[in-house]
Amino acid sequence: MRIPTFPLVLRLLLLAVLALPLALPDMAQAGHKAPDKRGILLVAFGTSVPEAVSAIDALKQQTEAAFPGVPVRMAYSSKIIRDKIAGEGVTKKSPAQALADMAAEGFTEVAVQSLHAIPGREYSDIKATAEAFQAMPKGIRKVTVGRPLLYSHEDIAKAAEAILLSLPKYKKGAAVLLMGHGTDHPANAAYAALQLALWKHDQSVFIATVEGTPGLDEIIPVLKRQGVRAAHLVPLMSVAGDHALNDMAGKDDDSWASKLKTAGIASTPVLVGLGSRPAVAGLWIDHLRDAVKELGE
Ligand code: CO
Repeated sequence: MRIPTFPLVLRLLLLAVLALPLALPDMAQAGHKAPDKRGILLVAFGTSVPEAVSAIDALKQQTEAAFPGVPVRMAYSSKIIRDKIAGEGVTKKSPAQALADMAAEGFTEVAVQSLHAIPGREYSDIKATAEAFQAMPKGIRKVTVGRPLLYSHEDIAKAAEAILLSLPKYKKGAAVLLMGHGTDHPANAAYAALQLALWKHDQSVFIATVEGTPGLDEIIPVLKRQGVRAAHLVPLMSVAGDHALNDMAGKDDDSWASKLKTAGIASTPVLVGLGSRPAVAGLWIDHLRDAVKELGE
Protein backbone atom coordinates (compact mmCIF):
# COMPACT_ATOMS: atom_id res chain seq x y z
CA MET A 1 0.00 0.00 0.00
CA ARG A 2 1.19 3.44 -0.84
CA ILE A 3 1.56 5.87 2.07
CA PRO A 4 -0.27 9.03 1.16
CA THR A 5 1.75 12.23 1.38
CA PHE A 6 0.10 14.98 3.41
CA PRO A 7 -0.16 18.37 1.87
CA LEU A 8 2.38 20.78 3.40
CA VAL A 9 -0.24 22.73 5.38
CA LEU A 10 -1.45 19.58 7.13
CA ARG A 11 2.08 18.49 7.88
CA LEU A 12 2.87 21.83 9.52
CA LEU A 13 -0.36 21.66 11.53
CA LEU A 14 0.51 18.17 12.75
CA LEU A 15 3.97 19.37 13.76
CA ALA A 16 2.46 22.24 15.75
CA VAL A 17 0.04 19.92 17.59
CA LEU A 18 2.84 17.50 18.43
CA ALA A 19 5.04 20.28 19.74
CA LEU A 20 2.32 21.73 21.99
CA PRO A 21 2.77 19.29 24.93
CA LEU A 22 6.46 20.20 25.02
CA ALA A 23 5.58 23.82 25.64
CA LEU A 24 2.81 23.10 28.15
CA PRO A 25 4.75 22.09 31.29
CA ASP A 26 6.70 25.33 31.18
CA MET A 27 3.55 27.40 30.82
CA ALA A 28 1.82 25.45 33.59
CA GLN A 29 4.76 25.98 35.95
CA ALA A 30 4.91 29.67 35.18
CA GLY A 31 1.21 29.98 35.90
CA HIS A 32 1.52 28.28 39.30
CA LYS A 33 4.76 29.91 40.42
CA ALA A 34 4.04 31.66 43.70
CA PRO A 35 4.97 35.33 43.87
CA ASP A 36 8.13 36.04 45.85
CA LYS A 37 7.53 36.40 49.56
CA ARG A 38 10.64 37.31 51.53
CA GLY A 39 11.13 36.76 55.25
CA ILE A 40 13.79 36.84 57.94
CA LEU A 41 14.38 34.22 60.60
CA LEU A 42 16.53 35.13 63.59
CA VAL A 43 18.00 32.17 65.45
CA ALA A 44 19.24 32.75 68.99
CA PHE A 45 20.66 30.05 71.24
CA GLY A 46 17.82 30.95 73.60
CA THR A 47 17.59 31.58 77.30
CA SER A 48 15.69 30.16 80.24
CA VAL A 49 15.95 33.46 82.12
CA PRO A 50 12.83 35.61 81.48
CA GLU A 51 14.69 38.91 82.17
CA ALA A 52 17.33 37.98 79.58
CA VAL A 53 14.76 37.80 76.78
CA SER A 54 14.91 41.61 76.50
CA ALA A 55 18.26 41.32 74.65
CA ILE A 56 16.70 39.00 72.07
CA ASP A 57 13.68 41.31 71.76
CA ALA A 58 16.06 44.24 71.22
CA LEU A 59 17.78 42.37 68.39
CA LYS A 60 14.41 41.61 66.81
CA GLN A 61 13.33 45.26 67.03
CA GLN A 62 16.61 46.48 65.58
CA THR A 63 16.17 43.96 62.73
CA GLU A 64 12.59 45.08 62.01
CA ALA A 65 13.76 48.69 61.89
CA ALA A 66 16.57 47.77 59.48
CA PHE A 67 14.29 45.80 57.12
CA PRO A 68 10.93 47.60 57.07
CA GLY A 69 8.08 45.54 55.63
CA VAL A 70 9.94 42.23 55.88
CA PRO A 71 8.36 39.84 58.41
CA VAL A 72 10.85 38.78 61.10
CA ARG A 73 10.40 35.42 62.84
CA MET A 74 12.31 33.96 65.80
CA ALA A 75 13.66 30.54 66.73
CA TYR A 76 15.80 29.10 69.54
CA SER A 77 18.52 26.68 68.46
CA SER A 78 18.94 25.03 71.88
CA LYS A 79 16.64 22.05 72.44
CA ILE A 80 17.60 22.00 76.12
CA ILE A 81 16.40 25.59 76.50
CA ARG A 82 13.22 25.00 74.46
CA ASP A 83 12.33 21.95 76.55
CA LYS A 84 13.12 23.76 79.81
CA ILE A 85 10.94 26.79 79.09
CA ALA A 86 8.17 24.61 77.62
CA GLY A 87 7.82 23.25 81.16
CA GLU A 88 7.19 26.84 82.26
CA GLY A 89 4.57 27.37 79.54
CA VAL A 90 6.75 29.28 77.07
CA THR A 91 6.81 27.81 73.55
CA LYS A 92 9.71 28.62 71.21
CA LYS A 93 10.27 27.09 67.79
CA SER A 94 13.35 25.26 66.59
CA PRO A 95 14.89 26.62 63.35
CA ALA A 96 13.34 23.66 61.45
CA GLN A 97 9.88 24.30 62.93
CA ALA A 98 10.11 27.99 62.14
CA LEU A 99 11.16 27.31 58.53
CA ALA A 100 8.41 24.70 58.08
CA ASP A 101 5.84 27.23 59.31
CA MET A 102 7.26 29.92 57.00
CA ALA A 103 7.04 27.49 54.06
CA ALA A 104 3.40 26.77 54.95
CA GLU A 105 2.75 30.51 55.07
CA GLY A 106 4.04 30.84 51.52
CA PHE A 107 7.46 32.37 52.12
CA THR A 108 9.63 31.70 49.06
CA GLU A 109 12.91 33.29 50.23
CA VAL A 110 14.21 33.39 53.77
CA ALA A 111 17.39 34.91 55.17
CA VAL A 112 18.29 33.16 58.41
CA GLN A 113 20.53 35.05 60.83
CA SER A 114 22.54 33.24 63.47
CA LEU A 115 22.64 35.31 66.67
CA HIS A 116 25.49 33.20 67.99
CA ALA A 117 28.94 34.52 68.87
CA ILE A 118 31.12 31.93 67.11
CA PRO A 119 30.71 29.65 64.07
CA GLY A 120 30.44 26.54 66.24
CA ARG A 121 28.02 23.63 66.40
CA GLU A 122 24.85 25.73 66.59
CA TYR A 123 25.84 27.62 63.45
CA SER A 124 26.73 24.52 61.41
CA ASP A 125 23.40 22.97 62.47
CA ILE A 126 21.58 26.07 61.17
CA LYS A 127 23.48 25.83 57.87
CA ALA A 128 22.53 22.14 57.51
CA THR A 129 18.87 22.89 58.30
CA ALA A 130 18.79 25.77 55.80
CA GLU A 131 20.32 23.60 53.07
CA ALA A 132 17.82 20.81 53.75
CA PHE A 133 14.90 23.25 53.47
CA GLN A 134 16.22 24.72 50.25
CA ALA A 135 16.44 21.22 48.75
CA MET A 136 12.88 20.33 49.74
CA PRO A 137 10.40 20.21 46.82
CA LYS A 138 7.59 22.77 46.98
CA GLY A 139 9.32 24.36 49.94
CA ILE A 140 11.13 27.67 50.30
CA ARG A 141 13.03 28.33 47.08
CA LYS A 142 16.02 30.04 48.64
CA VAL A 143 17.38 30.00 52.19
CA THR A 144 20.55 31.91 53.02
CA VAL A 145 22.35 32.05 56.38
CA GLY A 146 24.04 35.08 57.93
CA ARG A 147 27.39 34.70 59.69
CA PRO A 148 27.64 34.70 63.49
CA LEU A 149 29.37 37.62 65.23
CA LEU A 150 32.96 36.30 65.21
CA TYR A 151 33.35 34.69 61.79
CA SER A 152 35.99 36.20 59.53
CA HIS A 153 39.10 38.11 60.54
CA GLU A 154 37.30 41.31 59.49
CA ASP A 155 34.20 40.39 61.53
CA ILE A 156 36.40 39.85 64.59
CA ALA A 157 38.18 43.18 64.15
CA LYS A 158 34.83 44.99 63.87
CA ALA A 159 33.43 43.11 66.86
CA ALA A 160 36.43 44.16 68.97
CA GLU A 161 35.80 47.82 68.14
CA ALA A 162 32.05 47.57 68.76
CA ILE A 163 32.55 45.80 72.07
CA LEU A 164 35.07 48.41 73.25
CA LEU A 165 32.71 51.20 72.21
CA SER A 166 29.85 49.74 74.18
CA LEU A 167 31.68 48.79 77.36
CA PRO A 168 30.82 50.68 80.48
CA LYS A 169 33.17 53.47 81.36
CA TYR A 170 35.34 51.71 83.85
CA LYS A 171 37.43 53.36 86.47
CA LYS A 172 41.15 53.72 86.01
CA GLY A 173 42.89 50.60 87.24
CA ALA A 174 39.88 48.36 86.69
CA ALA A 175 39.93 45.78 83.94
CA VAL A 176 37.10 44.24 81.96
CA LEU A 177 36.74 40.48 81.86
CA LEU A 178 34.45 39.24 79.12
CA MET A 179 32.69 35.92 79.65
CA GLY A 180 32.45 33.89 76.46
CA HIS A 181 30.53 30.63 76.37
CA GLY A 182 33.30 28.45 74.96
CA THR A 183 33.08 25.07 73.30
CA ASP A 184 35.09 21.97 72.42
CA HIS A 185 34.35 22.80 68.74
CA PRO A 186 37.39 24.15 66.83
CA ALA A 187 35.55 27.49 66.46
CA ASN A 188 36.56 28.14 70.07
CA ALA A 189 39.71 29.66 68.53
CA ALA A 190 37.60 32.73 67.66
CA TYR A 191 37.90 33.84 71.31
CA ALA A 192 41.70 33.95 71.09
CA ALA A 193 41.45 35.92 67.84
CA LEU A 194 39.05 38.39 69.47
CA GLN A 195 41.37 38.73 72.47
CA LEU A 196 44.22 39.74 70.19
CA ALA A 197 41.98 42.20 68.32
CA LEU A 198 40.88 43.76 71.65
CA TRP A 199 44.46 44.08 72.90
CA LYS A 200 45.34 46.04 69.78
CA HIS A 201 43.17 48.83 71.21
CA ASP A 202 43.00 48.17 74.93
CA GLN A 203 45.24 45.94 77.04
CA SER A 204 42.89 45.96 80.03
CA VAL A 205 40.14 43.88 78.40
CA PHE A 206 40.38 40.12 78.84
CA ILE A 207 38.38 37.10 77.70
CA ALA A 208 37.74 33.82 79.46
CA THR A 209 35.11 31.18 78.73
CA VAL A 210 32.74 29.06 80.79
CA GLU A 211 33.02 25.82 78.83
CA GLY A 212 36.07 26.24 76.56
CA THR A 213 39.58 27.69 76.60
CA PRO A 214 40.83 29.81 78.13
CA GLY A 215 38.98 29.05 81.34
CA LEU A 216 38.90 31.50 84.25
CA ASP A 217 41.70 29.58 86.01
CA GLU A 218 44.00 30.31 83.06
CA ILE A 219 43.17 34.01 83.05
CA ILE A 220 43.48 34.73 86.78
CA PRO A 221 47.31 34.41 86.71
CA VAL A 222 47.37 36.76 83.68
CA LEU A 223 45.24 39.32 85.54
CA LYS A 224 47.52 39.07 88.57
CA ARG A 225 50.64 39.49 86.48
CA GLN A 226 49.14 42.67 85.02
CA GLY A 227 48.42 43.97 88.51
CA VAL A 228 44.64 43.93 88.06
CA ARG A 229 42.85 44.51 91.38
CA ALA A 230 39.33 45.11 90.13
CA ALA A 231 37.36 43.99 87.07
CA HIS A 232 34.00 44.50 85.44
CA LEU A 233 32.51 41.17 84.40
CA VAL A 234 30.69 41.40 81.08
CA PRO A 235 28.90 38.59 79.19
CA LEU A 236 30.24 37.95 75.69
CA MET A 237 26.94 36.34 74.75
CA SER A 238 23.81 37.68 73.07
CA VAL A 239 21.95 37.54 76.39
CA ALA A 240 22.84 37.92 80.07
CA GLY A 241 21.20 34.61 80.94
CA ASP A 242 21.87 31.69 83.24
CA HIS A 243 25.67 31.67 82.71
CA ALA A 244 25.89 35.40 83.46
CA LEU A 245 23.62 35.27 86.50
CA ASN A 246 25.04 32.12 88.07
CA ASP A 247 28.46 31.15 86.66
CA MET A 248 29.61 34.77 86.40
CA ALA A 249 27.85 36.80 89.09
CA GLY A 250 26.52 34.03 91.39
CA LYS A 251 27.22 33.69 95.12
CA ASP A 252 28.48 30.08 94.93
CA ASP A 253 32.15 29.40 95.66
CA ASP A 254 32.80 28.40 92.05
CA SER A 255 31.31 31.51 90.42
CA TRP A 256 33.70 33.88 88.66
CA ALA A 257 32.93 36.62 91.18
CA SER A 258 33.83 34.33 94.08
CA LYS A 259 36.97 32.88 92.47
CA LEU A 260 38.23 36.35 91.57
CA LYS A 261 37.58 37.54 95.11
CA THR A 262 39.63 34.62 96.46
CA ALA A 263 42.41 35.69 94.06
CA GLY A 264 42.25 39.22 95.48
CA ILE A 265 40.41 40.78 92.56
CA ALA A 266 37.19 42.69 93.27
CA SER A 267 34.54 42.36 90.58
CA THR A 268 31.44 44.17 89.39
CA PRO A 269 29.09 42.08 87.23
CA VAL A 270 27.42 43.90 84.35
CA LEU A 271 24.28 41.97 83.46
CA VAL A 272 23.80 43.21 79.91
CA GLY A 273 23.85 40.88 76.91
CA LEU A 274 25.53 41.79 73.61
CA GLY A 275 22.08 41.91 71.99
CA SER A 276 21.28 44.95 74.15
CA ARG A 277 24.40 46.76 72.94
CA PRO A 278 23.31 48.46 69.68
CA ALA A 279 26.86 48.75 68.27
CA VAL A 280 27.34 44.99 68.59
CA ALA A 281 23.76 44.12 67.57
CA GLY A 282 24.39 46.24 64.47
CA LEU A 283 27.11 43.80 63.39
CA TRP A 284 24.72 40.83 63.44
CA ILE A 285 22.37 42.97 61.37
CA ASP A 286 25.17 43.78 58.91
CA HIS A 287 25.71 40.02 58.50
CA LEU A 288 21.96 39.61 57.94
CA ARG A 289 22.13 42.33 55.27
CA ASP A 290 24.68 40.15 53.42
CA ALA A 291 22.37 37.13 53.72
CA VAL A 292 19.44 39.18 52.36
CA LYS A 293 21.61 40.42 49.48
CA GLU A 294 22.45 36.78 48.71
CA LEU A 295 18.72 36.12 48.19
CA GLY A 296 18.99 38.37 45.15
CA GLU A 297 17.38 41.64 44.10
CO1 CO B 1 25.74 26.90 78.17
